Amino acid sequence: MFKINENYLKLPGSYLFSTIAKKVNEFQAANPEKSVIRLGIGDVTQPLAPVIIDALHGAVDEMGKAETFHGYAPDLGYEFLRTAIAKNDYADRGCDIAADEIFVSDGAKCDSGNIQEIFSVDNKIAVCDPVYPVYVDTNVMAGRTGTYDSKTEMWSDVIYMPCTAENNFAPELPKETPDMIYLCFPNNPTGATITKDQLQVWVDYANKVGAVIIYDAAYEAYISEPDVPHTIFECEGARTCAIELKSFSKNAGFTGTRLGYTVIPKDLKCGDVMLHSLWARRHGTKYNGAPYIQQRAGEAVYSPEGKEQLAKQVAYYMNNAKVIKEGLQEAGYTVSGGVNAPYIWLKTPGTMTSWEFFDYLLANANVVGTPGSGFGPSGEGYFRLTAFGTYENTVAALERIKKM
Ligand code: MLT
Repeated sequence: MFKINENYLKLPGSYLFSTIAKKVNEFQAANPEKSVIRLGIGDVTQPLAPVIIDALHGAVDEMGKAETFHGYAPDLGYEFLRTAIAKNDYADRGCDIAADEIFVSDGAKCDSGNIQEIFSVDNKIAVCDPVYPVYVDTNVMAGRTGTYDSKTEMWSDVIYMPCTAENNFAPELPKETPDMIYLCFPNNPTGATITKDQLQVWVDYANKVGAVIIYDAAYEAYISEPDVPHTIFECEGARTCAIELKSFSKNAGFTGTRLGYTVIPKDLKCGDVMLHSLWARRHGTKYNGAPYIQQRAGEAVYSPEGKEQLAKQVAYYMNNAKVIKEGLQEAGYTVSGGVNAPYIWLKTPGTMTSWEFFDYLLANANVVGTPGSGFGPSGEGYFRLTAFGTYENTVAALERIKKM
């Protein structure tokens, strides 16, 4: 008789954004006349930029001719894309990352979920609280998190690093020493950031205690302040303690077309073993690469036209962030985020819980957001709105919220 991976049974409820989608679908079915505005999941709404569409068309035409057809992609990704990433995202920022330390993939969500596979199940993870649920859930699936306490909504073997208004939503070094530290800046869900000096403290700490930092930089394109690092490799010593995850979803609108990459420096070792070799082995065994056409689209992101067109797209969303932030402040809410990130983090009014506010907002303004408690216990009493809607919907949502 076969057995299942019982760790899956430990997972409480369904994936956060699936739960929200189900609730919204039920509301819409019961109220077909209501126009619901979705500012919940961080999914983009602007069409792909013209330079990317051209690159996709060009690559599709290549696939239609025997001389330029491409089958399986190289394990780590095409050289043209890895070289463009190494130059633009690292060398141009003074960071020492070689093209062969970059692994192209179909997105940062998969990589952030899969990366834990190359680590021992005995490792202890530390996460910010609130946190992007993928980091914790995938460690639950692997059996690394101990038992779940439904009262505290915490796992016995996870180190939680609360990020609250008291610490400006920036985690403090944990009291108990972790083996793997998940950090995401600019942060999902709070929209907060830390400075380069603050990140340097984490890098020094990880090197000192022998921990690895899994650094999710998916929202890097939204940084507007000068002292905020664009990559962890701006910090000295990061090559011996950090893995970086990057996505093309938020900076180039690839949520539907998929592309991302992971950086593992060859200096990052456990004893004599390079983590790079383990991830290369995993990639080669379990993955056949992001599609050629998509990697050509990724290359176009780094062209001069690509940079110009995408900067406009980011500015469009950040204007939405301003509309949301200022609108909520006018309506009397306590708000943060939205300056270096496309997420606005608000305190729920009075004593309302995050899910109570979710229901209230959906029923009274027909606006969907994300309950803070869905990201962890310290998210209780908070709520996230995304700036990735259209400008028109964002303005309309705020008008409705102000009237509530
Ligand atoms: C979010 O809403 O938190 C993100 O869209 C999730 C993701 O990028 O997978």
